[in-house]
Amino acid sequence: MLTEQHVLELLHKMKDPFLHKTFKETEGIEEVSIKEEKKHVSVKLAIAKTNTAEQMQLQQELVAALKQLGAVTVGLRFSQLPEETIAKYQPTSEERPSLLSENSKTKFLAIASGKGGVGKSTVTVNTAVALARLGKKVGIIDADIYGFSVPDMMGVEERPKLKGNKIIPVERFGVQIMSMGFFVEDNSPVVWRGPRLGKMLKSFFKEVVWDDLDYLLLDLPPGTGDVALDVHNLIPSSKELIVTTPHPTAAFVAARAGQMAIDTDHEILGIIENMSYFESKVTGEKEYVFGKGGGDKLADVLHTSVIGRLSLQQPFEEEGVFAPSVYQEEHPNGKEYLEIAQKILDEM
Ligand SMILES: Nc1ncnc2c1ncn2[C@@H]1O[C@H](COP(=O)(O)OP(=O)(O)OP(=O)(O)O)[C@@H](O)[C@H]1O
Ligand SMILES: [Mg+2]
Repeated sequence: MLTEQHVLELLHKMKDPFLHKTFKETEGIEEVSIKEEKKHVSVKLAIAKTNTAEQMQLQQELVAALKQLGAVTVGLRFSQLPEETIAKYQPTSEERPSLLSENSKTKFLAIASGKGGVGKSTVTVNTAVALARLGKKVGIIDADIYGFSVPDMMGVEERPKLKGNKIIPVERFGVQIMSMGFFVEDNSPVVWRGPRLGKMLKSFFKEVVWDDLDYLLLDLPPGTGDVALDVHNLIPSSKELIVTTPHPTAAFVAARAGQMAIDTDHEILGIIENMSYFESKVTGEKEYVFGKGGGDKLADVLHTSVIGRLSLQQPFEEEGVFAPSVYQEEHPNGKEYLEIAQKILDEM
């Protein structure tokens, strides 16, 4: 029979899709009303996060369950639970498998190079966006604590929100992002040293409420310094991409970063040769402005292969979308990044 009592009993047993607590516990049932003669039930629920895929799923389950009870038509409305309730029931890091715990399903991929300015951050950002375009849940840790650049490259203007004493990463293009840049005012320089840096990096793993990520990419600072070493030691299971330009010297320097990966038992997935060539729009001819062969040489030295070559080119300008370093899906480099992402999926 379709009574308010029955509907409430049903709702009391169902769970909030984010907090995994029943609506009875979260006190998320805001309204239930029934129009007997038309067999119409309307329900208003407060959940932790509205307008999400999880809400859609819950909607479908609810409608099915209410129809089972005898409803002919169902009206559903959703609102957001109060912050206190969310903070109270938010799974803590102890319950939620930490990214670094053994049963975490998240795969790590660090992006390294020997030299600065070869395009590590650009490669990190675009590989992450490409993996997200292929349907994966992806995060980026901008581990270049002094030289952070990921938020600017992706055009992120928001800051992460705090929930209790946890940090919620910012999301753009389907990629969750954490960067030192979010905690620095007005682009002022970071003047921390040694241990505090390592602590910051650790808190990016442990105090940030990441979604259930498939892949977490780490944009490393250039070279083989402290932070790079910290990352290597912190995530023993990480794989690496090494970025170089085609210039033989760049490749020579990059070999040192590769050697560091090998020394810390990080498997090298492959080499990305960035700024490989310039393609003339007029003649379509490729010009190898930074020389040729650096990527192949490096692949040789590190016993791996070149898994992508990016041309020297900016993303297209798009009205209303500000993300200075993100290539569009139909951009030649955007297509190359999709292929790189596919190779990464196959390899990992
Ligand atoms: N394929 C490309 N075509 C044109 N410009 C590029 C390309 N790749 C990178 N750039 C530009 O080159 C500059 C350096 O790139 P990026 O910041 O990604 O390098 P990086 O290795 O992360 O540098 P750093 O060592 O300073 O962190 C940026 O201005 C970026 O926009
Ligand atoms: Mg960088």
